[in-house]
Amino acid sequence: MLTCPLCQGALSAVDNGVACPLGHRFDRARQGYLNLLPVQHKNSRDPGDNAAMVEARRRFLDGGHYAPLAARLAELAAEQAPARWLDIGCGEGYYTAQIAERLPGACGYALDISREAIKRACKRAPQLTWLVASMARVPLSDASCQLLASVFSPLDWQEAKRLLAPGGGLLRMGPSRLHLLELRQKLYDEVRDYDDQKHLELIPEGLRLAHSETLSFKLQLDSSQARADLLAMTPHGWRASAERRAAVIAEPFEVTVAIRYDWIEKLQASQEQE
Ligand SMILES: C[S@@+](CC[C@H](N)C(=O)[O-])C[C@H]1O[C@@H](n2cnc3c(N)ncnc32)[C@H](O)[C@@H]1O
Ligand SMILES: [Zn+2]
Repeated sequence: MLTCPLCQGALSAVDNGVACPLGHRFDRARQGYLNLLPVQHKNSRDPGDNAAMVEARRRFLDGGHYAPLAARLAELAAEQAPARWLDIGCGEGYYTAQIAERLPGACGYALDISREAIKRACKRAPQLTWLVASMARVPLSDASCQLLASVFSPLDWQEAKRLLAPGGGLLRMGPSRLHLLELRQKLYDEVRDYDDQKHLELIPEGLRLAHSETLSFKLQLDSSQARADLLAMTPHGWRASAERRAAVIAEPFEVTVAIRYDWIEKLQASQEQE
């Protein structure tokens, strides 16, 4: 199922790694993941989230603040009962590991372009295949996945379409309009309205939105560490002024968590002609 990022040939297991028939070879890291991101596909030396961002997200998520979001995500994934699934932009693996727990018989893959993220993620669920790879060139074969997960991440829609088996789908989880509203009000003079439908315009032909739902709750952030971590794991960590950020970290506050889930199916060939 894994394909060579250089020539797209099939990769098979060799001593401590994988190799393709043309002899391109990729070693397994000490932690257990495979690095399938060739230097020539990197736009920077250390692409993706850096260690500080990954650590902040990890501490915050392990604090359980977003536990209901992960539980619903894993439940929606389990309903689909995929034989093979892939989490694209998995970060440090908090959500991935919970999906894996609900799909014990399935073959699970997860990728991120950040080595710092994957290094930590692979410890959460060693039974999965963890990859440092780019979502723009996913090293898996066409139509190989019944389920793709995309959680708070950017997405290459054409790659997602290529990877999906007909009848399979993409489970996308992202912010809805009121997500972290009180935090944004504290950080900015003018809070921009967030259009949580925008991604739907990007759905390519051959895929269609089959189900959407939202989940919201209030989160009480009493610990200054949790408030600092929440800032550091969102774009607000660098967008807002230092003064406003310090004020947010200084005092406990309650914030709205509001998330939407979309299930976007790949049509069967017969449905496409309808
Ligand atoms: C906001 S984080 C979300 C991580 C995780 N899904 C979560 O919710 O905890 C977005 C992730 O996308 C990754 N990413 C960004 N561009 C990428 C690319 N081109 N290919 C693969 N991953 C990428 C980043 O490294 C980062 O870990
Ligand atoms: Zn090759």
